[in-house]
Amino acid sequence: MTGSLFRQGIIWLTAKPLVRTLVAERGPGRAMASRFVAGETLDDGMRAARALNARGIGAMLDHLGENVSSPAQAQAAADAYVRALRRIEAMGVPDANISVKLTQLGLDVSYDLCLENTERVLRAAGGTLVMIDMEASEYVDRTLEAFEKLRANDPNIGLCIQSYLHRSAADVDRIVRDGAIVRLAKGAYLEPPDVAIHDRAGVSRAYARLGATVLSRGGTLHIATHDPALIEGAKRFIAAREIPRQRYEFQFLYGIRRDLQDQLLGDGYPVRVYIPYGPDWYPYLTRRLAERPANIWFFVSNLMRR
Ligand code: FDA
Repeated sequence: MTGSLFRQGIIWLTAKPLVRTLVAERGPGRAMASRFVAGETLDDGMRAARALNARGIGAMLDHLGENVSSPAQAQAAADAYVRALRRIEAMGVPDANISVKLTQLGLDVSYDLCLENTERVLRAAGGTLVMIDMEASEYVDRTLEAFEKLRANDPNIGLCIQSYLHRSAADVDRIVRDGAIVRLAKGAYLEPPDVAIHDRAGVSRAYARLGATVLSRGGTLHIATHDPALIEGAKRFIAAREIPRQRYEFQFLYGIRRDLQDQLLGDGYPVRVYIPYGPDWYPYLTRRLAERPANIWFFVSNLMRR
């Protein structure tokens, strides 16, 4: 999230047709995606996970896909996660978990179908942590409801909360009560001002407040931001309150701020990287471009050179 959401909206409108054009020409599109996406196959995701583990960094696999419109597609997405979980076990990747999107597991088709698919993934996980991404605001109510229902039967599940949403303080209050695992991100979707905070400083203030609430109330906090000021603030809070290491970790998106990852690792902090893989990288890539105008100029200039 960079700058006001209005500016992000303009960038979004530029990014979408650009990415669409590049997707139409598979070659440049794929080259462009490779900065943020590990590859199109599970093998690519596993290769990235092993490489990160070798550097002392945890992995979180995300099989790309969202907003599926048929039960068969939702089932296929659940199958892909079950395969990923089996591969994590079979290949002995020591520190890897997964992250799912509920619209990928069928939330747009039916809530019950989505719940069934997520339960199947959780059963296959057998103790490996399953995180739920947070998507656009229209899904937040159903995502919270599903999270609470699933967590009642299996504690190995966590949820992303977006600091830009006005509602998030109440949502954190609701879920953190009994020690939930919360990934805190700024939020990556284009939302209107009555739904989301629109100024950068306000989103950061909300981030710091929500993070402090999760840690003070006994929750586990995944600090999912590349923002150096927020990372420093989190480090100070953790030190001042002597928060035990197993109750927090710093998280990054694949391909972003490797320098900060190394710094945190060097200082002895736990670090994990979110690894997207799979052929459906278009919406993910559009969000990564929209949140940072420099990425668009970088890709346009690369394209011109081609
Ligand atoms: P900010 O946008 O201010 O960026 C801080 C710095 O990070 C920039 O100055 C730049 O150096 C670098 N940076 C950030 N984005 C970059 C980019 N695209 N390309 C290159 N450099 C970049 N969102 C959501 O809505 N639902 C979710 O489930 C998740 N899940 C998630 C997991 C993890 C592990 C992370 C790190 C992030 C998410 N997000 C997310 C995305 C999040 O909401 C947000 O859009 C991005 O992290 C960008 O915001 P920052 O907090 O990094 O700050």
